[in-house]
Amino acid sequence: MKILITGGAGFIGSHLTRLMVNKYPGYTIHNLDKLTYAGNLANLSDIENNTNYKFIKGDIVDAEFINDLFIREQYNAVIHLAAESHVDRSISNPLEFVMTNVIGTVNLLNAAKTLYKNNPSSFIKFYHVSTDEVYGALGESGMFTEETSYDPHSPYSASKASSDHFVRAYHDTYGLPVVISNCSNNYGPNHFPEKLIPLCLNNIINNKPLPIYGKGENIRDWLFVVDHAIAIDIIFHEAKLGNTYNIGGHNEWTNIDVIRLLCRILDKKLNRPEGTNEKLITFVTDRAGHDLRYAIDAGKLKKDLGWVPSVTFEQGLELTVDWYLDNQNWLNNVTSGNYAKYYEKQYLNSN
Ligand code: NAD
Ligand code: DAU
Repeated sequence: MKILITGGAGFIGSHLTRLMVNKYPGYTIHNLDKLTYAGNLANLSDIENNTNYKFIKGDIVDAEFINDLFIREQYNAVIHLAAESHVDRSISNPLEFVMTNVIGTVNLLNAAKTLYKNNPSSFIKFYHVSTDEVYGALGESGMFTEETSYDPHSPYSASKASSDHFVRAYHDTYGLPVVISNCSNNYGPNHFPEKLIPLCLNNIINNKPLPIYGKGENIRDWLFVVDHAIAIDIIFHEAKLGNTYNIGGHNEWTNIDVIRLLCRILDKKLNRPEGTNEKLITFVTDRAGHDLRYAIDAGKLKKDLGWVPSVTFEQGLELTVDWYLDNQNWLNNVTSGNYAKYYEKQYLNSN
C-alpha cells in the first residue's frame, strides 16, 4: 500500500507519520508538505532514513503539481492533514486559510478522484483530518456528536467546515471512498509555540508573561497527540467508508486551570518556589469571536472501533513538559526560525 500523508512535517502529521512508518514496514509512506512556518522536518529526524518513507516538498494549492504527483505515484490512499491551523492567524489573514484548507483540499480530492475513476479497486481511501471547531461553540452543557450541525465562527473553522463539505460531496457525487474525523484540541511534543500550551511552556521557561485571553474561562477538551495518531490509524484501517468519527479526550479544562496546572508542574521541574510561575499570568484582550466551550462525545469511536485515550491529561502534560525541557534546542530553533535550515541541510544537499 502506498499512502500519501499531507502535512506530515507539522505537529499531528509528524506523530502520525512516525506511527505509520514504524508500525507498517510493508507500506510506503510519502509525506507531502510545503514546509510553511509550521512544518519542521526535525520532527521526523528519527525516521527520515527509513526505506519505507519519503519526503516530498510541495504545495497542495498547486493543482498541476498535485495531479502530476498522483499520476506518477499511483497512491492507494491519502491521509490529509495539511492545513493552516491557527485561529488567530486566520483572523488576520483569512484568504491564506481559504487557499490551503479549501482549495488545497479540493485539489487533492480531484487528483484522488482521477485515480479512483481510472482504477476503483486500487484507490481505497481519502481520509480527511478535521476539527471539532466546525461544530461551533457550546454553552455550559452538552457535547458535540457526529450529528451536531455545522456552525463555524472563525475563518479557520469556516475553512475546515467547507473542506469537510467538499469531502462529503465527493463521496456522494462521485462515489469517492472517504472517511472524516473531527478531533478536539491536541497537545504534546512538537507543538508549535504559538498555541496555548507550548506558548505558555516556552514563556514559563524564559520567565515571560503568559497571555490569557479574556478571563481564561473558555473551555477546551484536550487530547494527547499520540492518542490522536492512534485513533487516525484505527479509523483509517477499520472505519466504514463515508463515515465520520469524533475524537476527543473527555477532558474539559478552562484555559486558566490548564495554565495554573502547567505553572505548578514547572515550579517543581525548574526548582522554583511554589507559586512563582503563576505570577507570570497576564490577562489580555480576548480573541475576536472566541468560542466559549468545546466538548467532544467520542462514544461512536469507542463503541464501533474500541478506541479510548491511553493517557490521562496529567500524565500527558507531564510527558509534554519533560519533552520540551529535554528538547530546548527544538524550541530555540523554532523560536529563532533556524528550523527551516534543516531542510536545506538534509534534503537540498542530498538531492
Ligand atoms: P500544523 O499547523 O502543526 O501543521 C500543518 C502542516 O501542514 C505543516 O507541516 C505545514 O507545513 C503543512 N502545510 C500547510 N500548508 C500547506 C500547503 N499549502 N501544502 C502542503 N503542506 C502545507 O497543524 P496541526 O496542528 O498538526 O494540524 C494538522 C491537521 O489536524 C489540520 O488539518 C488541523 O485542522 C487538524 N486538527 C488539529 C487539531 C489541533 O489541536 N492541532 C485538532 C483537530 C484537528
Ligand atoms: O479544537 C481543535 C482546534 O484546537 C484545532 O482545530 C486548531 O487547529 C488548534 O489550533 C486548536 O484551536 P484553539 O484555538 O482552541 O487553540 P489555541 O491553542 O490557539 O487556543 C486554546 C485556547 O487558549 C483558546 O480558548 C484561546 C486561548 N488562548 C490561546 C492563545 C494562543 C489564550 O488564552 N492565550 C493565547 O495566547
